[in-house]
Amino acid sequence: METRLVAAVTCYIMPPTLRHVAPEQDLNRDQKFFDRYSLVLGVLAAIALALLVLTLKIADLTQGVYIQDIEEYQAAVNKRIQPLSDVYLPGEQHTAPTPVTAAAAPEPVATVMTGPQVYNSACIACHGTGVGGAPKVGDSAAWAARIAQGIDVLHNHAIHGFTGSDGVMPPKGGRMDLSDAEAEDAVDYMVEQSK
Ligand code: HEC
Repeated sequence: METRLVAAVTCYIMPPTLRHVAPEQDLNRDQKFFDRYSLVLGVLAAIALALLVLTLKIADLTQGVYIQDIEEYQAAVNKRIQPLSDVYLPGEQHTAPTPVTAAAAPEPVATVMTGPQVYNSACIACHGTGVGGAPKVGDSAAWAARIAQGIDVLHNHAIHGFTGSDGVMPPKGGRMDLSDAEAEDAVDYMVEQSK
């Protein structure tokens, strides 16, 4: 055991010329050199990696903090994370600036639209997919009882709005620029598609 240890230590530390080693051990010298060389390379690579991580960390602690303090950056972040909407309880003052879009009143449509055109522009948002409980166009089961009320009732509900057990149908689907006749045509089209 001891002799083997001595041989191993000799082989690693002493220059080849001073060694008294068996020839078969001598043959392993290249392999051992290669092993040690790989080890040194590995350690160097690890140090390089550690330096890189350290540099990034330092940059993060200095430059990163600096950037986060800049007003423009703060403003951009605030803009990105601002809530989509606010909740106002009854009696609370509405402080948010009026949205720009609200200022532009919807321009009256000059040309008369056909039933399908009205449906596709004003009604499909809810009645296409059933948003908010709206009966889907084409779903005859959902429309049977409504159609049974008679077309006049449906026209009336579409023009003046209607709140039933399923949800709220806004007057003319919220498109006050539509004429009564256009809304009626849209109802006729929807009923036709849902029988
Ligand atoms: C914001 C969503 C929404 C839009 C837009 C909308 N509707 Fe509706 N509509 C509803 C909902 C919800 C109901 C179901 C109300 C209930 O029965 O509770 C409904 C019901 C109806 C009914 C059946 C009323 C009844 O008496 O059963 C008709 C007809 C109708 N809509 C026509 C239209 C027409 C025409 C348009 C387009 C001009 C339109 N809707 C746009 C939500 C909408």
